Amino acid sequence: MPINFDWFDLTPFANPYFVETGFFQGEGAMKALASGLFQKVISIEVNKELVARAQERFRLPLAAGLLKVVHDDSVHLFQHIQSLEEPCTFFLDAHGHWVQEKMEEPHLPSARKVTPSTFCPLLEELDAIARHPWAKSHKILIDDRRCLQRTWSHPTQSWWRSLDEEMVLEKLRTVNPDFHIRYIDGLTPEDIIAAVPADQ
Ligand SMILES: C[S@@+](CC[C@H](N)C(=O)[O-])C[C@H]1O[C@@H](n2cnc3c(N)ncnc32)[C@H](O)[C@@H]1O
Repeated sequence: MPINFDWFDLTPFANPYFVETGFFQGEGAMKALASGLFQKVISIEVNKELVARAQERFRLPLAAGLLKVVHDDSVHLFQHIQSLEEPCTFFLDAHGHWVQEKMEEPHLPSARKVTPSTFCPLLEELDAIARHPWAKSHKILIDDRRCLQRTWSHPTQSWWRSLDEEMVLEKLRTVNPDFHIRYIDGLTPEDIIAAVPADQ
C-alpha cells in the first residue's frame, strides 16, 4: 500500500539514503524527500509505464540528483545498492502488481517460481540487503504486515501467498541478528515492520 507517513514520524529512520522498492505513483518517495531526513531517495519499480510517468512528473528532484527511479525487478536490488557506502533506510513495498507485467525469473528457486500475481520479492530483497557491506547499519521498514498473517485474504490480490511473517522475521535476523524489531501503525494498526540496529 502507499505508505502513510502522516501517521508516523520518520525521524528515527533518518539515514543518508532512503531506498524504496515499489514506486507506484511516488507518494512514499515524495514524503521521504519532503521529510528532509535523507540526502537521496532511490526507488526501484518494475512497471515501465509507472517509471516513464515518474520521469515526467518528478523532473526537478530527478535532475537535482535527489531522486532516482530505476526500472527493474527488485529481486535485483543488490546491483542498485552495492555502490552505496553509507547507511540506508529501506522501505520494502513492492507488494502487488497494480498493473500486471510478464515476469520471468529463471534464477529463482522453484519454490519461489510463482505467477506474477502471487510473487513477492521480499525475501530476495532481504537477501540483497544482507549481502551489502553496511548491512548491520541499515534500517528496514516492511509495509503490509497484515498480509503476512495466515488468515489474511483479499478479493483480487494474492502476492503474499508464498510468505508468512515468521519467514520474514527469520530473514531479517540474517541481515542483523541484533535488530530491534517493532511494529508501527500504517494502513492498519501495527502494519509496518520496523527493524533498526540495537544501538540506535
Ligand atoms: C504498493 S505499491 C507501492 C507504493 C509506494 N511505495 C508508495 O508508498 O506510494 C507497489 C508497487 O510495487 C511495484 N512492484 C511489484 N513487484 C515489484 C518488483 N518485483 N520489483 C519492483 N517493483 C515491484 C508495483 O508495480 C507497484 O507500483
